[in-house]
Amino acid sequence: MEDLRRRIGELKERKRAVILAHNYQLPEVQEVADFVGDSLELARASSKVEAELIVFAGVDFMAETAYLLNPGKRVVIPDPEAGCPMASQLPAGLVREARARHPGAAVVLYVNTLAEAKAESDVACTSANAPQIVNALEEETVLFGPDRNLAWFVQRRTGKRVIPLPDYGYCYVHRLFSPADILALKERYPDAEVLVHPECDPEVQELATHICSTSQMLRRARASPSRRFIVVTEVGMTYRLKKENPEKEFIPALPTAVCQQMKKHTLEKVYLALRDERYPVRVPEGIAERARRTIERMLELSGKAAHD
Ligand code: 13P
Ligand code: SF4
Repeated sequence: MEDLRRRIGELKERKRAVILAHNYQLPEVQEVADFVGDSLELARASSKVEAELIVFAGVDFMAETAYLLNPGKRVVIPDPEAGCPMASQLPAGLVREARARHPGAAVVLYVNTLAEAKAESDVACTSANAPQIVNALEEETVLFGPDRNLAWFVQRRTGKRVIPLPDYGYCYVHRLFSPADILALKERYPDAEVLVHPECDPEVQELATHICSTSQMLRRARASPSRRFIVVTEVGMTYRLKKENPEKEFIPALPTAVCQQMKKHTLEKVYLALRDERYPVRVPEGIAERARRTIERMLELSGKAAHD
């Protein structure tokens, strides 16, 4: 491990590369990263990268976002199988059909989508800024996909008519949390704040003290006077929470809530990605231009807020 870390450091310097990693990455991958964040922070970081080579340790739609925001730079993903299954639930054809059925509606897509679907949308959003983006639009009706739980959250926060697209989109990890499990934890730790990711079912969101993106969880844990938190998201999140708040306690609501795709990037694969510049991330031209606009529009609309 130590040897790999050293070699990664040398290669990064020699190749003028950066490593960007999502909050769910394995601890050893987070440790070699230049930047760790949620989807919105990673998109923002990607838009400011000066390095020529970006190694992206996250799922493929995040790496695609980095590619779209950095024309001309090399973006590689350590394991090409790291795809978010939720993204595949919304092919571009479904977006086109829904738009034809609801001609006056805006189409807002979660960044957890295929580039081909983004290309058919008006604007992208992440879990950190979804209500803010929807509120910034003139339209009162919004087609929102692919996560129906996030759509429910947006509907509640904005009061607009939010139509989930498709009506069955979900994340298999966040669907594992049950209200009964959260209630049992709340009973056991009555002093704890409950931090819930908006990809969880509505019945679970209703038990939250705060509904947060992964980085909003970090900000809340830092700012809160509470000493204890029940963390209702992918289990990898507790590593960074604990590292940055060693005096506080973080209880993962379900230790088996693991995103297998996020965990595909081992330290060795990160090293090989840097060494061999594999595996290159690309979005076909034709799709890329339209998909890029939706991410840039999101960054413009949410750029004004200091902390989304
Ligand atoms: P965040 O943007 O909150 O990090 O969420 C990304 C994700 O894939 C959650 O499952
Ligand atoms: Fe996709 Fe869920 Fe994994 Fe996030 S946790 S990358 S939404 S499968």
